[in-house]
Amino acid sequence: MPSYLVTGTSRGLGLEFVKSLSSDPSNTVFAVARNLPNATQLLDFVAGHPHKNVHTLEADNDDRDAIKKVAEITGGSLDVLILNGALMMHERGVLNLDQFPSEDILEEDLLRYFKTNVIGPIHTVNAFLPLLKAGEKKKCIAISSPIGAPKFCVRVGASQGTGYGISKAALNLAMAKYAAKYKNEGLLFLSVTPGLVRTFPGTREEVEKRLSPNVARIRAVNPNFEGTISPEESVRDILALIEKATMADTGRVVHRDGRDGDEML
Ligand SMILES: NC(=O)c1ccc[n+]([C@@H]2O[C@H](COP(=O)([O-])OP(=O)(O)OC[C@H]3O[C@@H](n4cnc5c(N)ncnc54)[C@H](OP(=O)(O)O)[C@@H]3O)[C@@H](O)[C@H]2O)c1
Repeated sequence: MPSYLVTGTSRGLGLEFVKSLSSDPSNTVFAVARNLPNATQLLDFVAGHPHKNVHTLEADNDDRDAIKKVAEITGGSLDVLILNGALMMHERGVLNLDQFPSEDILEEDLLRYFKTNVIGPIHTVNAFLPLLKAGEKKKCIAISSPIGAPKFCVRVGASQGTGYGISKAALNLAMAKYAAKYKNEGLLFLSVTPGLVRTFPGTREEVEKRLSPNVARIRAVNPNFEGTISPEESVRDILALIEKATMADTGRVVHRDGRDGDEML
């Protein structure tokens, strides 16, 4: 009975992980949301789910006590931990590092992203390490982004998304630190980039339109760039990758098709 815990499951990729994983009745899925009563898409899905193999839990990445409590409740062992929940969008996400209205606001934003997207996942890994050690698969997966990869940023001209991108680069390194510590104990740590996924609010048409400048910039560097993909496509590939990953991959940053994350162009 493989067990999976996913953070950030109220919507987007996190919710899709829950849907996909729970379609196999032999899986046990722990779905963590930062505000469970507000996670109506998740709650509705679980209420109507035939297999009853999803357990919902509440923890915010910013609340280490809540994270520890979730680990206590989960108890025993865990096969795969998926660090998915993250702060993505922000009204100042379009600013370059030298364009912030004040130094204080710049610092505030950088620290906010670092706390939620780096420190939160680190507390989560620390809380679940004993469970992962007791599990069969022993895999910890961080959902990363090419926006955190230097080569991607420079080639595509991705100067914006600063706090977010810097936090994802730091998250990759945090995974590498765990990989270095646990490579001889069979615990695998991997950072995976999911593609440009249509998890943004709005219809498919609206989302495609909003993301079209990003697609154009990437296509200018790589004419074969796939463009936007659905959460279903992304999660299908990521779960296949997780299944295939071996200790030879530990500490890597990979695109969901297994290519090196920094070489995805
Ligand atoms: N979509 C893409 O193209 C793309 C590309 C590269 C990487 N990613 C990564 O993929 C992952 C999922 O992204 P997505 O597209 O599904 O994003 P999303 O639709 O914005 O969902 C983000 C999830 O993270 C949760 N979250 C936000 N702040 C949190 C916090 N402080 N503590 C715990 N959970 C928190 C959200 O919960 P609430 O509903 O409560 O806000 C939501 O469940 C993220 O790590 C993101 O960085 C996505």
